[in-house]
Amino acid sequence: MGSFADFHARSINDRDAFWAEQAKRVDWKVQPQQICDYSNPPFAKWFVGGETNLCHNAVDRHLAERADQPALIFVSTETNQEKTYTYRDLHAEVQRMAAILKDLGVVKGDRVLIYMPMIAEAAFAMLACARLGAIHSVVFGGFASHSLATRIEDASPKVIISADAGSRGGKGVPYKPLLDEAIKLSAHKPANVIMVDRQLVAFTPVAGRDVDYATERAKHMDTVVPCEWVESTHPSYTLYTSGTTGKPKGVQRDTGGYTVALASSIPHIYQGKPGGTFFCTSDIGWVVGHSYIIYGPLIGGMATILYEGLPIRPDGGIWWSLVEKYKVNVMFSAPTAIRVLKKQDPALLTKYDLSSLQALFLAGEPLDEPTAKWISEGLNGKAIIDNYWQTETGWPILTICNGVEKAESKFGSPGKAVYGYNVKLVDDQTGEELTGANQKGVLTIEGPLPPGNLQTIWGDDERFVKTYWKTVPGKLVYSTFDWAVRDEDGYFFILGRTDDVINVAGHRLGTREIEESISSHPNIAEVAVVGVADQLKGQVAMAFAIAKDTSGLTDAAARKTFEAEVMKVVDSQLGAVARPSRVLFVTALPKTRSGKLLRRAIQAVAEGRDPGDLTTMDDPAALQQIVDLIKT
Ligand code: PRX
Repeated sequence: MGSFADFHARSINDRDAFWAEQAKRVDWKVQPQQICDYSNPPFAKWFVGGETNLCHNAVDRHLAERADQPALIFVSTETNQEKTYTYRDLHAEVQRMAAILKDLGVVKGDRVLIYMPMIAEAAFAMLACARLGAIHSVVFGGFASHSLATRIEDASPKVIISADAGSRGGKGVPYKPLLDEAIKLSAHKPANVIMVDRQLVAFTPVAGRDVDYATERAKHMDTVVPCEWVESTHPSYTLYTSGTTGKPKGVQRDTGGYTVALASSIPHIYQGKPGGTFFCTSDIGWVVGHSYIIYGPLIGGMATILYEGLPIRPDGGIWWSLVEKYKVNVMFSAPTAIRVLKKQDPALLTKYDLSSLQALFLAGEPLDEPTAKWISEGLNGKAIIDNYWQTETGWPILTICNGVEKAESKFGSPGKAVYGYNVKLVDDQTGEELTGANQKGVLTIEGPLPPGNLQTIWGDDERFVKTYWKTVPGKLVYSTFDWAVRDEDGYFFILGRTDDVINVAGHRLGTREIEESISSHPNIAEVAVVGVADQLKGQVAMAFAIAKDTSGLTDAAARKTFEAEVMKVVDSQLGAVARPSRVLFVTALPKTRSGKLLRRAIQAVAEGRDPGDLTTMDDPAALQQIVDLIKT
């Protein structure tokens, strides 16, 4: 092993040679002619002229050597199902799904929206799209009709793949009514909906539009659907994420760059090996699920576990029992899940044989020291590796690359800049680079972003440039919208978002979206939503609202009823993930004299902190109201 510092330096200073080498990890139908075209910054094109296919690299490529090896292990503690698909089985199932899509007229470049629970068919669906060169857009199953509708409208899918229901705590959670409502709300209508009927919740198919997956699958048991070779820069998928405005952004990913980035990350970051087993507890609706439940492990020739269920059902040992049973080598979860497990019997951590497990990776939100220590000690000193990244980047920006060179982790720090990432801390006001130790700045990345990172925002190049590249004065650099410091050893510490994005149990949410939803209630005049620190979930959303008509809100019981009503609006429009923990009613919101909402001050007092400099505040009584409310 060489030194990580050299490896990283080479990835930046000798970029094309570095990535040309990494590109050898994947199959190309046509070899790339140019490694990186950055002639039109900030738009980077990777492996130009190359032709490949994501599904081929995840599935077909392995048939020669590992057809009988497990590829996809589906475990549901919700429906008590457990089924292992070998690479041969997966290849067959993906072709069946691809054949159904083809019958419905789906061709290269068409969009297919996937709104599914954590079932094996969701993996078939994603891989089938990749096989055809169709662009999938997976929407998290926890999102409700309004969120879904905005995504349908933006992606304009030809086909939607869905299921009757998800399941939580053993109870069916209907998907179909939310989907039907979303299609009604959306100006764009899909031609067809493929319904996987799990027979959890009865539903009525829409005649002429909905097709039954099982019926169609039966027609295609032996249908051969070859992979469609696509240009490296052909979009593989879009994935919506929240930002400062209420309108979600469709993060658009390429094919070749993404395949190479993931192929390279498996050995270098996760230390996964072909034939090993990867267990990522995220959801296919999030970027972690895309990269490390589906594509990464499969590209790496590993078996991947797709788990539907809670981490504590039937008991808090369920995940560790799976580690033992399937000899998991690499596990990937979120700090929130560990905080949930922390409330369970610690003996569950040592009940199972975890000797196969090399390391536990955690990402998605800050990993606090007590949680890191608890799990590290509970697992008898197994490596706990924090990794920091975003939907936009598709794979880690900061971590410890133990597959390149073994290095110490520091509690509270995700580590150093990963190879390919030219990370700079900058002063948000002056744009000046901060090179000294422990200076707080915005974490930025110099272009070109490495392979696998977003190409643009779907259908909106201008928004891509303006949102991510024009926030630092005088420079064209990518902003992560995270504050950070770097210590004298080059380890970064993430200090929170610079924008209005909050992180609830590892789920990224925009406070503006929640505000818009609350404002749609006829009796809400104005509202501010802020993220408030929470022991279990990291952050929770808290809303401070002004009612139009306050005559009915005279006592606590009436306010409680109204609060529940407002929460129901958010539930039905955005989904329970976005529901604020509290909706508190005020008569005024703290603003500056020019009318700007003082979100930071609201957040500070909601967390019981000092709101800082309030010289620009128009009406101090408004903030005092919040201080008083929080105390009660
Ligand atoms: O604020 C950072 C936080 O989550 C944001 C990205 O969320 P999302 O797009 O959902 O992607 C998650 C991919 C892992 C970041 O801007 N974040 C993510 N990982 C960490 C983190 N904050 C601190 N430590 C982390 N390891």
